[in-house]
Amino acid sequence: MFTLSEEKPDDWWEVEALYDLCFAPGREALSSYRLRDGIDPVAGLSLVARDDDAILAGAIRFWPVLVGDAPALLLGPVAVHPTRQGEGLGGFLIRESLALAKPLGWARVMLVGDRPYYGRFGFERLDDVIMPPPTNPERVLGAALAPGAWEGVTGPVRRFTEG
Ligand SMILES: CC(C)(COP(=O)(O)OP(=O)(O)OC[C@H]1O[C@@H](n2cnc3c(N)ncnc32)[C@H](O)[C@@H]1OP(=O)(O)O)[C@@H](O)C(=O)NCCC(=O)NCCS
Repeated sequence: MFTLSEEKPDDWWEVEALYDLCFAPGREALSSYRLRDGIDPVAGLSLVARDDDAILAGAIRFWPVLVGDAPALLLGPVAVHPTRQGEGLGGFLIRESLALAKPLGWARVMLVGDRPYYGRFGFERLDDVIMPPPTNPERVLGAALAPGAWEGVTGPVRRFTEG
């Protein structure tokens, strides 16, 4: 049994330790991290999952980005502790956070990840959305939270603060 709650400042380093465990060393060298540097995650969307003993089992964070001039959510990192993988927790974190995103006014979400996994949540390849290099274009995926929200949204993915 897992309980989801909004990530709080006190959770930050515990979540970082989980990500260090779940991702290859050097994860922060990925180009997606350059879109996050110095920008706060989206309030209310980054979630932690704890078990009945309050042990951290999974976490998901979101950052705001611009695609061309359109705002979008950048999903990730999302990770589940290796001893808890394959129990549906990753899917629970993704579905619950996306359900929260729409009422907050977000229309579209993107990520860099495996299509075979994220396809089940409605993510499809974004052919005309360009992540900073080096990123495999096949892994640039998006889902619309409002009908047609990705139509006509193309171009480079930029930091949310850039003019
Ligand atoms: C990816 C991750 C978050 C999924 O969490 P999870 O709780 O294990 O996932 P779920 O239980 O919801 O789903 C498990 C299913 O997804 C599949 N799956 C997991 N990762 C996958 C991947 N990278 N590609 C394709 N399928 C994947 C599993 O094979 C399983 O398939 P099944 O339902 O047919 O049995 C977790 O495996 C993880 O933390 N991995 C390491 C960090 C990572 O890669 N994060 C994603 C970055 S893009």
